Amino acid sequence: MSDAINLGPAAEIEEGEARVVPSEEIGTDDDVTIFHAEDGSFYALDDTCTHETASLADGWIEGTEIECPLHSARFCLKTGEATCMPATVGVRPHKVEVVDGDLVLYPNQAP
Ligand code: FES
Repeated sequence: MSDAINLGPAAEIEEGEARVVPSEEIGTDDDVTIFHAEDGSFYALDDTCTHETASLADGWIEGTEIECPLHSARFCLKTGEATCMPATVGVRPHKVEVVDGDLVLYPNQAP
């Protein structure tokens, strides 16, 4: 299991925005994107859409879902589950939390 990684101040990611953390920096198979959802919470998912290869960081946050920028599949930010076609396979979620104002990511750990 991977160690916790401090990503710096959570306030650097505006609500409705996302930030990609490169896989080579955190030892994951895919880049991981941190999403600041409209409910004020932060979520972390593998960045690559399971339909083709779009970056979900370029998509649109709608409530607690992320919509892929390429063909509009949707994924639950909390679980990674695919909630709308054309994607049928979910993306991997990772645990992320805010500790003393900093984002702390637990790569490869379930939320
Ligand atoms: S690449 Fe994401 S829906 Fe097609």
